[in-house]
Amino acid sequence: MSQANLEYHWMPYTGNRQFKKDPRMIHSADGVWYTDDRGRKILDGHSGLWTTGLGHGRPEIADAITRQLAQLDYAPPFQFGHTGAFELAEKLKELMPDPLNYVFYTNSGSESADTSLKMARAYWRLKGQPAKTRFIGRSKGYHGVNFGGISVGGIAANRRHFGQGVEADHLPHTMLPENKFVHGMPETGAHLADDLSELIALHDASTIAAVIVEPMAGSAGVIPPPVGYLQRLKEICVANDILLIFDEVITGFGRCGAMTGSDAFGVVPDIINTAKQLTNGVIPMGAVIAHEDIYHTFMEHGGPEYALEFPHGYTYSAHPVACAAGIAALDVLVEEKLVDRVAAEASYWGELLHTLRDKPHVSDIRNYGFAGALTIAPYPGEPLRRPFEIAMGLWERGFLVRYGGDTIQLAPAFVMERPQMESLVSALGETLDALA
Ligand SMILES: Cc1ncc(COP(=O)(O)O)c(C=O)c1O
Repeated sequence: MSQANLEYHWMPYTGNRQFKKDPRMIHSADGVWYTDDRGRKILDGHSGLWTTGLGHGRPEIADAITRQLAQLDYAPPFQFGHTGAFELAEKLKELMPDPLNYVFYTNSGSESADTSLKMARAYWRLKGQPAKTRFIGRSKGYHGVNFGGISVGGIAANRRHFGQGVEADHLPHTMLPENKFVHGMPETGAHLADDLSELIALHDASTIAAVIVEPMAGSAGVIPPPVGYLQRLKEICVANDILLIFDEVITGFGRCGAMTGSDAFGVVPDIINTAKQLTNGVIPMGAVIAHEDIYHTFMEHGGPEYALEFPHGYTYSAHPVACAAGIAALDVLVEEKLVDRVAAEASYWGELLHTLRDKPHVSDIRNYGFAGALTIAPYPGEPLRRPFEIAMGLWERGFLVRYGGDTIQLAPAFVMERPQMESLVSALGETLDALA
């Protein structure tokens, strides 16, 4: 492909200048494999972008989409419906913890984040507490790129360019020095949830609408919650009439070896945000799943029946093709018992990843379910460079991983076999050695 052809696409979250000099073009995909434009097989070590746990090229999903396109390509989601949207909502209700039963569709994780924040503020207004508008996020949290999401997010690089957001304060992250190289959930750190009480003392609960956290932080580099941490957070929220939102855009639908992070860690929030794995990444879609009390509150205060209860939604909410993809993807997830497979193989994956502990530049390793990350010691003054070099080294060796901040992130597909995991980890080890 000529240089001119690459010029006009302004790529997201990408070093455009470097990419356009040295492109990494993916041509096709099948199972856990990509093929690049040079015909090389590339092992997908990140399930796409945390999206494609079922593996690529699933015929069940492709067939469902094709059938749907032929039957109904688009229907307006405002004031009209189609059966697929209701069928998928019922499936989601079954898969989500009780009483999170009501599904509001979005098209991405970022839209799920902002939808959940708006839902929380409007809920308190309907309950007669309109001053409850503030949000509490967490340092190192990622909730997408829209203004609500970056305001509650806690990754500095994602916020500092963009000025004023919405009112938010932040809990500390849970990456304590004593938890380095811990396998799975750290034993230490539940006390960090008590910082919420301090933020409540500072702002007063009467001004706080919701706390939003990823049950396991993903984009900052796989940070499993300390044992007891989420339980404590929930207790403090309940005691202070603050909604708890779990951003499960990565943890939803199997990544943690349970259907949700909520199930994996034993805490039921008031709202769960999802996207990514919902359609296996095949068609953009997200869903916000709300506690039944939230839905009923909107209905009770909705005014005349023909009036809108929640003036919010997207042109592509509940897109028929996305719904068809979601139904098919969730059916495969359930029928092939892939959540159980992740649960069964997670400790093998975790042990394997931790064999990299003594490799050059590795300053921490974290894992949970089919997720893992390495923190990479920086070049002086250049924290982002070495992870980039590692990811490029792996790409040359035929492996795709994600690099972000000072981390390398891995997310095997739920169908990945042990030898493939072994080759991924051993290629990472060789790459680290080569950069020593
Ligand atoms: C926890 C979490 N929330 C939100 C998002 C944003 O999702 P999207 O890129 O689909 O907007 C992501 C994406 O990685 C995420 O991991």
